Amino acid sequence: MCGIIGYTGKKNITDELVAGLEKLEYRGYDSAGIAYCERGKLVTVKAVGRISELKKLTDGLRPDSSCGIGHTRWATHGKPTLANCHPHLSYGGKFAIVHNGIIENCRQLRLLCESRGISPISDTDSELIAHLLEMYFEGDLRKAADKVAGMLEGSFAVGILCSCRPNEIYAFASRSPLAIGEGRNFCALASDGNALSGAETLVFLKDGESALLRPSGAEYYRKGKRINPQSAPFSAASALSGKDGYAHYMLKETYEQPEAAARTIAALSGIKLRGALSFIGCGSSYHAGLSMLPLACHACSRPAQAQLAGEFLCSERVKSRGTTAVLLSQSGETADTVAAALEAERRACRTFAIVNVASSTLTRVCGAHAVTRAGPEIAVATTKGFTSQVVAVAAMLARGTLAESTERLPFIMEKALEAGVSDEAEEASRLLAISPNAFFIGRKADYGVALEGALKLKEITYIPALGLSAGELKHGSISLIGEGTPVVVVHTDPRLREKTLLTVASVRARGGFVIAVTDDRDVCAACDLAVRIPSSDPFLSPAVSVIPLQLIAYRAAVLLGRDVDKPRNLAKSVTVE
Ligand code: AGP
Ligand code: GLU
Repeated sequence: MCGIIGYTGKKNITDELVAGLEKLEYRGYDSAGIAYCERGKLVTVKAVGRISELKKLTDGLRPDSSCGIGHTRWATHGKPTLANCHPHLSYGGKFAIVHNGIIENCRQLRLLCESRGISPISDTDSELIAHLLEMYFEGDLRKAADKVAGMLEGSFAVGILCSCRPNEIYAFASRSPLAIGEGRNFCALASDGNALSGAETLVFLKDGESALLRPSGAEYYRKGKRINPQSAPFSAASALSGKDGYAHYMLKETYEQPEAAARTIAALSGIKLRGALSFIGCGSSYHAGLSMLPLACHACSRPAQAQLAGEFLCSERVKSRGTTAVLLSQSGETADTVAAALEAERRACRTFAIVNVASSTLTRVCGAHAVTRAGPEIAVATTKGFTSQVVAVAAMLARGTLAESTERLPFIMEKALEAGVSDEAEEASRLLAISPNAFFIGRKADYGVALEGALKLKEITYIPALGLSAGELKHGSISLIGEGTPVVVVHTDPRLREKTLLTVASVRARGGFVIAVTDDRDVCAACDLAVRIPSSDPFLSPAVSVIPLQLIAYRAAVLLGRDVDKPRNLAKSVTVE
C-alpha cells in the first residue's frame, strides 16, 4: 500500500532507488528495501524503520547494475521486521518482487506453495507472488506473470526483477496505482507519478494491464496482447517542494490554506453540482462532506447525505438513480473511496470526484471530476486538503450572497491562522498534551469539524480523542467526563447558541474543562478557555473553525515530541480496503 519504485537506465542503481523512495516517503511506511541484479544474482538490501537506515547500508555501494526495484512497506500481513520487508526473493533466487496492496486469497496461495515443498520465510502475502512466479516460469516471464496475476485476488501493484533479464523490470497492477515514466535512456515505475521526476511521458496501468520496462522504453500488454495506452506529457509536480523554513510539512501546509482556498474557489466556482447529493469519503474527506451537509440541505435546499466510503459498499442497494455521488479524496487513490465510486456507478448514480491529485485513480473512475488546487500535500495529517474540499463544495453549490461569502473565505482563514497561535490556543495545546483523553463536540456544520479536530489530535499526538455531535454527549459518553477532562466545543452558528450553552453547562457541572473555539462572546464567557475565531457564514465556517484545531493539535504533537509529518501506523494514501 505504500510505495514502489523501479528504474532501468544508466545511473547508479542504489542511489536512484533510494532517491525514488525518498520521494515516496511522505506516504508513511515502516520499512524499506531495494533489489538489483549483480553478476547474475539478485541482491536485496533492507532496513526496518526510516529510509535513512537503508541509506546507511547503500551509501558507497557501486553495484555493476543500473536496473532495480525498491519498496516502502506499510504492513498488512506481518510485523515490520527485516524478514517481512520487501523486496522478496523466490525460493530459487530467480525473482525479486515488490508489492503494494493486499492479496485476499493469500491463505490458499500459501497452502499451494507449501504443498509444493516451498516454505515462505516471511509472514507477508507478497512473498507468495515471488514463489508463484518461479513455480510457473518456463522461460517466458510475461507468461508466468500473466498466470500469477490471474491467480491473485485483492489489490496489487507488483514490480518484478528476474535474474535472467537483469536490465528489465516487469510490472502488473489491479486496483492499486502504478505509473510508468519514460525519459531519455531510462524507464521507471512508481506508485505515485510525482516520484518519476525527469520522465517525459507518463502512463498509469489500468486494472489487468502489465508492462515490460527496458532502458529504451516500455511495452504494454493486456490479456497477453500488446497495447498502446495513451501516455500523457509529464512535468513532475513539486511533490518535494521543501519545508520552506517551517519545522514540519504539516505546519507549512496549514499556513498554505488561505492561498489554496483562493485558488480552488477561483478554479471551481464555474462548475455546478447537480441533483441530490451523496458525499462519500474516508477520514478527513468524509468529515469535509459531513460539514458541508447544512450548506447543501438548508442553504441550497438539496436532498443530501454524507456516507463513509467503506460503509457505502455495505449499505442497502437503495435506488440511487438521479443522485450525484460526490467522491471526496485528497489523494484520489483511497481504496474504499474508489470502490464506493465503482459501486455508485453500478447503482446508476452520477459520479463526481473532488480530488487534489489530477492524475489519480478517482478521476479515471468517475463520470466527472473537479481538482482542488491545494498543491502537493506531504504531511500524512491533512490540513489544506480538508479546507480545499470544503471550499470546493461551497464554490460549486453556493449562489448569490453565499457565493460572495465563499469568495471572502480566504481572508477570514488568514485571521483564523492568527487565532490558532493565540495565547489561548497555545494553552489549549499544553493542556491537551498532558491529558489522557479529550472530547471534541459540535452541532450541524460544527459536528464535522469536531470530528476532524478529534482526528487531527489523535493521529499526530496518539491521545485518544472522541469527536461527537454535541447532542449525543448526554446519550452515554458524558459518563467519561470527570474532573479536568478537556472538552473542545466548536460553535459557529448563532442559532445554536442556547443549545451550546446548555451543553457547556452540563459538561462543566461534571468537572469537565471546556475549551471553546467560537466567534460567540456568550459562549466564550461560559467556557474555561476560549479561542476566539473570526466570524464567517455558519454554512461556510468549517473552512475557518478547523484551522485553530489543526494548530492546537500540531503544537500538542510537537510538545510530545511526536513524528508530526509521519505519525506511527499511518499512510498518506490508503490503497487497501
Ligand atoms: C487525514 O488526516 C487522514 N490521514 C485520513 O483520514 C485521510 O483523510 C483519509 O485516509 C482519506 O484520504 P483521501 O482524502 O486521500 O482519500
Ligand atoms: N501486503 C503487503 C505486506 O504486508 C504489502 C503492503 C504494502 O503495500 O506496503 O507486506
